[in-house]
Amino acid sequence: MNPSGLVQLATDVERYFNEALVPHDPVLQHAFAAGEAAGLPMRYTVSVAQGRLLEVLVRIQRAERVLEIGTLAGCSTLWLARGLGEGGRIVTLETRPDYAAVARSNFAQAGLADTIEIRVGAAVSTLLQLIREDGRPPFDLVFIDADKCHNATYVDLALRMSRPGTIIVVDNVVRAGAVLDSEHPDPSVQGVRALVAAVHDDPRLHAVVVQTVGPKGHDGFLLARVSSTAETARHETNQTDELEHE
Ligand code: DHB
Ligand code: MG
Repeated sequence: MNPSGLVQLATDVERYFNEALVPHDPVLQHAFAAGEAAGLPMRYTVSVAQGRLLEVLVRIQRAERVLEIGTLAGCSTLWLARGLGEGGRIVTLETRPDYAAVARSNFAQAGLADTIEIRVGAAVSTLLQLIREDGRPPFDLVFIDADKCHNATYVDLALRMSRPGTIIVVDNVVRAGAVLDSEHPDPSVQGVRALVAAVHDDPRLHAVVVQTVGPKGHDGFLLARVSSTAETARHETNQTDELEHE
């Protein structure tokens, strides 16, 4: 089967599973339509299956505090919010005031204005601002889906607001396989490769990439869990033990 045939088949399969497993959500549908009406690049929004995966991860994690980097119209934020329990909170960061205005209106329409805090500005600045705010408990789950050039920096800053057990999810790490090309001219590809190198070098992170094929083509999520110092030490000891037994 040629690659576009596989993407079409995967899209049909995704629709089948979505119809069977994911309840129709008029609030999300309205948020997506509002983004389109305002001329936002909604092709960058997570697919229904990807959004549902975020919701399920929030539930598995029993996350009470979620950080999102890259809001767009707020559709992924609403998926994350669907997984939150009573009293859960989301902070979402958006560079563009015009995108943030659409998202804010979508959160209000969803009745989630008090659950979701949106901060506008370059994410490196808003992240540093969050880090400087004393007394904030760490985030339980972080979803990174902004400009890809800064991915490694975003993970580094997110780690400063994480705890052992925090889950970090990064969107768009496969890019139709472009990630394989170390000489690729696209800065987004180089941003992903720098992220992968940084995660490889960080003993606190246990990571895997789950590839996705469907309505957004061939892409993938990097999923990483932050270890405790003790877990990291144990992991390193095991690796040394393995070396000794080779
Ligand atoms: C791009 C960005 C995204 O966040 C996404 O999900 C798909 C594509 C992009 O910049 O090309
Ligand atoms: Mg994305």
